[in-house]
Amino acid sequence: MTAQQLRSRNWFGRKDLDGFAHRSWTKSEGFSEAVFDGRPTIGIANSWSELTTCNAHLRQVAEAVKRGVWSAGGFPLEFPTVSLGEVLMKPTAMLFRNLMAMDVEECIRAYPLDAVVLLSGCDKTTPAMLMGAASADVPAVMVTGGPMLKGKWREQELGSGTDLWRLWAERRAERLTEEEFCEAEACMSRSNGHCMVMGTASTMASMAEALGMTLTGNAAIPAVDARRYALAEMSGRRAVEMALAGGPKPSQVLTPAAFDNAIRVDMAIAGSTNAIIHLVAIAGRAGVPLPLSRFDELSRTTPFILNVSPSGKYLMEDFFYAGGIPAVMKNLLPLLHGDALTVSGKTIAEQVRGAACYNEDVIRPLDLPIAGEGGTVILKGNLCPDGAVLKQSAASAHLLTHRGRAVVFEDHADLHARIDDPSLAVDETSVLVLKRVGPKGAPGMPEWGAAPIPAKLLRKGVKDLVRISDARMSGTSYGTVVLHVAPEAAVGGPLALVQNGDEIELDVPRRTLTLRVRDEELARRRAAWTPRPPHYTRGYGKLFLDHVLQANEGVDFDFLRGKTPVRFEDSAGPSHA
Ligand code: FES
Repeated sequence: MTAQQLRSRNWFGRKDLDGFAHRSWTKSEGFSEAVFDGRPTIGIANSWSELTTCNAHLRQVAEAVKRGVWSAGGFPLEFPTVSLGEVLMKPTAMLFRNLMAMDVEECIRAYPLDAVVLLSGCDKTTPAMLMGAASADVPAVMVTGGPMLKGKWREQELGSGTDLWRLWAERRAERLTEEEFCEAEACMSRSNGHCMVMGTASTMASMAEALGMTLTGNAAIPAVDARRYALAEMSGRRAVEMALAGGPKPSQVLTPAAFDNAIRVDMAIAGSTNAIIHLVAIAGRAGVPLPLSRFDELSRTTPFILNVSPSGKYLMEDFFYAGGIPAVMKNLLPLLHGDALTVSGKTIAEQVRGAACYNEDVIRPLDLPIAGEGGTVILKGNLCPDGAVLKQSAASAHLLTHRGRAVVFEDHADLHARIDDPSLAVDETSVLVLKRVGPKGAPGMPEWGAAPIPAKLLRKGVKDLVRISDARMSGTSYGTVVLHVAPEAAVGGPLALVQNGDEIELDVPRRTLTLRVRDEELARRRAAWTPRPPHYTRGYGKLFLDHVLQANEGVDFDFLRGKTPVRFEDSAGPSHA
């Protein structure tokens, strides 16, 4: 592509009133005339925020990207995006993923950018940026912030979230003192970066790499490792090349083959259940049909090979030293579409050809897997006609086929009011059912699915129960937890009709979830069911409630699916007062 064809020339190359304005106001930042010599303008979309703890170092990462852009002859301009911090943002960062995706898409469209580098980290920031970039379809390369160093407390290694849930259960069972609990708090999160188990952030970084949207090796490099900054610099250089070449664009990378590859990797690494929702949403933007059945098809034929918490014993730092995603993809290559294109301009097969595994207890060979099937399964049945999700790799083997009586909680407040009530009629065979925590119900589909085990059962040594809800679950969580039940209870899905004492059967080998109540009785309950009033009647909350899709459709907004690619000629015309 010549300089005259660069989109940014419509702003900076004009010899008229608008060109004067665009250059003059940009010079107010101290740039010289030299940056308007026809070089590509590279946007750096930065989700840095001190409120998004996992992304708090992204300004340093942006500096490394800029170094790469300048050294390759580009003009870097960093801009902020909405940022979503999983821990501090209430009621849930998921409520705002689509808002962030709109922000990213519209900024790419509105500004003079020839290519973008997407800086993400915490759970929702990665899919939101990929969704926005896919809809805008300007050449884009992603750099994620990387995982924290592993937690260290006394003789134990601590994994983000996963060990917090475990320590909290120990505290509630009074096997851990308050002093010990406080001491562990300071030892778990000890560097910049996102959660360092295979939680949602690590999974989505892995998905970005498997989809081909990052340079190879990106996902597992620790946030504070010098090599993350080197990769950021290389990504800036690559963005300049992509701008000059006019691609590859997301539409050339995010193909059906790329999504198959990502699902294979997700199953092999026992990724977060959240990846299913986000991949469906990203595919929806790219125009790639991705029914839940595709996840189950590929799960059945993809061995689970990564021994990383919460489904295994190691942490992300160990995964990086063992070879990271390139080593996983090299092992999986016989199952992958090796010819899928990546943002590097090379295919997946070319990218991972030189990869090596340095620890076969962390990354198992294909013929010596941890389990023969992938980490996540899709369930169907009269309780979830449009599907539900369960992470079998983090579940208890003895509960994978189970029949039990429902103990029903009508909403999250009800759960917390009664879960530790000594008079609650619950035992180790019970099935906890939590309603109204889905996309419209909570709203925002929070990570409330791993309902706590009642304290009286914890004290008896019970560590897991079958739990069912229309919520999501943190990627750092574990247990026999059925999630994403669709349609959700708040819109009158069958989950809304479950009553205390109903028998529920979970059969993971057969992929079924069955409410053992006669159809006539369910019809009677349905006729008596009424929806609750909406949580929001104005603002973004109302937009969310009016347009959000169900879990099996990716929880995107109905009007955001698909793309409106940015066009060269869109950028002409006056914009100043
Ligand atoms: Fe940000 Fe876990 S809280 S990745």
